Amino acid sequence: MKLGSIELSTDLMLAPLMDVTTPSFRQLICDLGGVGMVVTPMVFVQQIALAPKTVLPHLEHIENQSPASVQIVASGRNEEHIKKAIDFLSSFQFDILDINGGCPATHTMKSGSGGALLRDYNREGDISRFQKIIESAIKFSSRPVSVKTRLGFEREDEILDICKMIENSGAEFLTIHGRTVKQKYSGGINFEIIKQVKNTIEIPVVGNGDVIDYDSYKNMKERTGCDAVMIGRAVMADPLLFNRIWEHQKSSKKDFEFPPFSERHNIKDIRQYLLKNNQFIESSSQFWNTDRFKCAEMRRLAIWFVKGITGYKKVREKLSKFNIFDELKTYIFSKSFEEDFNN
Ligand SMILES: Cc1cc2nc3c(=O)[nH]c(=O)nc-3n(C[C@H](O)[C@H](O)[C@H](O)COP(=O)(O)O)c2cc1C
Repeated sequence: MKLGSIELSTDLMLAPLMDVTTPSFRQLICDLGGVGMVVTPMVFVQQIALAPKTVLPHLEHIENQSPASVQIVASGRNEEHIKKAIDFLSSFQFDILDINGGCPATHTMKSGSGGALLRDYNREGDISRFQKIIESAIKFSSRPVSVKTRLGFEREDEILDICKMIENSGAEFLTIHGRTVKQKYSGGINFEIIKQVKNTIEIPVVGNGDVIDYDSYKNMKERTGCDAVMIGRAVMADPLLFNRIWEHQKSSKKDFEFPPFSERHNIKDIRQYLLKNNQFIESSSQFWNTDRFKCAEMRRLAIWFVKGITGYKKVREKLSKFNIFDELKTYIFSKSFEEDFNN
């Protein structure tokens, strides 16, 4: 399938998740299959412009994760920062530049970026900062530009005006998390408004929010008519989720039972995931080579993957205390790791 000019092997996308969709996590998800595109967590243009090296850990081996999208976040108050950031990013091999127009986090909002672009949209003059950012990104980027946003700041139908601006500014596709900025993660997804957006604009629309299995994926597609589906939090607990949904989509079997989260993987699977993770970490460059960094990366993944497995609390507590990479790996592959699930 195609999203704008980008060819995707499936209609499933890994959401940008700060501190989660790191290069090693993205690589694991790509290796497990079923995902059509991965997105980096948001990187602040000001940070890239003023201290470009700080963005390098996000881009490790991005050339092997194609199609991959790099998400930037900007306030639109300094076009030079956008230009500098995009110039710096241009030497990396990725496929699409995404603009964050919905992050509700306080520090993002305070900087005038993310969700603040929706908050200020109707308060500004003829051309909003949101529009300026999209237009600047398109002007400076040799790659296509997409936008990820929410339904609005406070009202769920604000997006119906804004989506036209996004399309007219030249974005190749639009991803919508079906909540307002004010809602953060509370309340349900408004499928009806995503459907109305899909019927309002010509560019492809990606639906996002609360997809956890095949039924919720199907539900998002059928109720909104969206072109693709983006999934975030559920993949942290089930890295095989894209593969499972895609295999089910291809199969003719109607009665596929999606296992509950607690049964989606076992200790053997977790070890397999972490072995792959180890390979990635070991093959990475100077920005990833401190023992502390490597340990933190694997520890974080291990903690998500054990969550939900019967008796995981003691294991999680032990995992959280490791600061030395080799010691962490020794524990994960030891008998006591298995035994601790029963204690
Ligand atoms: C820990 C965490 C970090 C996130 N970081 C980002 C981010 O960097 N950029 C972004 O656009 N959205 C971010 N989001 C929002 C997700 O991309 C996604 O829109 C949201 O979680 C809803 O999808 P889900 O229900 O499938 O998780 C983040 C969400 C979480 C929980």
